[in-house]
Formats: sequence, C-alpha cells, structure tokens
Amino acid sequence: MNNFRIGGGKIMKKNEIDHLVVEWLAQAKKMVFSSFSRKIMVETKTSRNDLVTELDRQIEKFLVTQIKNVFPTAQIISEESHPKLDKFDPQQLLWIIDPIDGTMNFVKTRRDFAIMIGVYQNNQGQLGYIYDVMNDCLYHGGPEKGVFCNQQRLLPPANLSLNQGLLETGALMLLHNRCNLQKIALASNGVRIYGSAGIQIIRVLTGQAVGYVSHLKPWDLAAGRVLAETLGLTVKTIDGHIPDVLSSVDVLVASKNAQEDIVRMAQAPY
Ligand code: IPD
Ligand code: CA
Ligand code: CA
Repeated sequence: MNNFRIGGGKIMKKNEIDHLVVEWLAQAKKMVFSSFSRKIMVETKTSRNDLVTELDRQIEKFLVTQIKNVFPTAQIISEESHPKLDKFDPQQLLWIIDPIDGTMNFVKTRRDFAIMIGVYQNNQGQLGYIYDVMNDCLYHGGPEKGVFCNQQRLLPPANLSLNQGLLETGALMLLHNRCNLQKIALASNGVRIYGSAGIQIIRVLTGQAVGYVSHLKPWDLAAGRVLAETLGLTVKTIDGHIPDVLSSVDVLVASKNAQEDIVRMAQAPY
C-alpha cells in the first residue's frame, strides 16, 4: 500500500511520509544535543526506576504536533501523554511513538537510547523508525522499501538457532526467571542487557543477537516490529501467538529457529 488517505480527501504517498519523518527525527536529535548543555527536569513515574524527563515530553510534543499538522485525522499513541486511544479505526493511520526509549540510560549515561516511531494501518506495520541518536544511526523501513541503517540496506540476518547466538533481554525478567528465561539464557551463547528495547531490537535486526525477549508496551515494540517483520524475523508472544499492536505482552523478536527453541523452552515445566 503506497498511498494513504490523510483526511480532508487528501492522499499522500508513503515515501513522502517517510521524508517528513526523517526530517522530524533530525530536528529531534538537535533537541537531544541541546539538552546536554542544561540541567533538565527528571521525574519518577510508577517507581524510582521508571523515569520521565523534560526531554521525553519535549520530543513527544514536537512529534505529535508535526503529525497532527500534516495528518489531522491521524490516531496517535505516545508513551507520556497519549498512552491510549478513545476510539480506534484500524483503517486510519495509527502512529505509535516512544519519544525516548531507554530514559534511564539517557539520564545516567547519555547513550543507548532511541527515538522510535511505528506507523500502522489495518493492523499492518507500514513504516518503522528506531533512531540510535548517539551513534547517529537511523534504522528505518517497511514492507515495500526494505530496512536501512541510514542509507545502507540491511540484509535479512542468518536464521541461527538459540545455541548459535547472543540473547537480548531485560534484567528483571531474567532475575525473576520469568518464562524459564534463566534456562533459555544458559542455552544461548550469552546474554546482553542494554536497557532499551529499541537498541536491543537493533541488535537482532543486524544479526548481532539471535533474539530479544521482554515485556513490552505498544510504543516499545511498534517501530521494531515493522523492521523485524520486514527482515523476515519473527515477532511473537513468548507463547507463540501474534501480538496485538495495542497490547502490552511478553514478546520475542528472533530468528525463526531461535524463536522455536525459545518458545519450546519457555513452555517446558519449571
Ligand atoms: C523501557 C526500556 C527497557 C525495557 C522497558 C521499557 P522506556 O522503555 O525499553 O529496556 O525493559 O520495558 O519500558 O521507559 O525507557 O521508554
Ligand atoms: Ca519512553
Ligand atoms: Ca520504551
């Protein structure tokens, strides 16, 4: 699908939308760098380890405003101020935004965080963007154009098994041994934990890891899902089902072989 109805009877081509988003992300990057020269406000949300900063809010406001200017009828879900939709029409464009994924990293280390946008229609991923700001690498693409890191096209990663690669996950899920994760981790070549779903999904997209397991909210997964599915990776719940775009679930982004290994082990008795 290369044309989108954007409201008011207007049609826009997918590549025009793509150019706009790339431009908005370049401006968002400037906001990130200008924040480094001042003290920014950090607040806790549900716990002392769940943070939101002035910059999360600033980038979110900027992206939502840009989208609404061009697509007046767009439906937007965004982590900090638009986490739900009142009404949902799957035929209209759905934008899912994580203004900063890895806020704890942004606050503590100023690296390993990403700005993420997923664009969906009819429950199908159309465009995905994961911007690793500090490395200036924008992972972007969708079913028609393929997946790129900046201008470089990514090839589908090899279909490795769990015992042939690294596993990405989250610390709490591993420490609490959710879904038999400790056993699954031991069967891999090793575990890597970076504290950003976007950065960790990039590592699966680029073949540096065979899978990423985590409990994710819609904005943590939306962008990476488009890119992963375009590259032939599987994006399933940990029990092997297709995740709903609007739900929060235990998700696995992996090569097909690793996915089969992990689902089998996650369901084995403890
Ligand atoms: C979090 C990060 C983290 C993942 C959490 C997410 P946030 O996103 O992606 O790696 O384990 O589930 O909530 O809150 O920094 O945008
Ligand atoms: Ca976030
Ligand atoms: Ca996130």
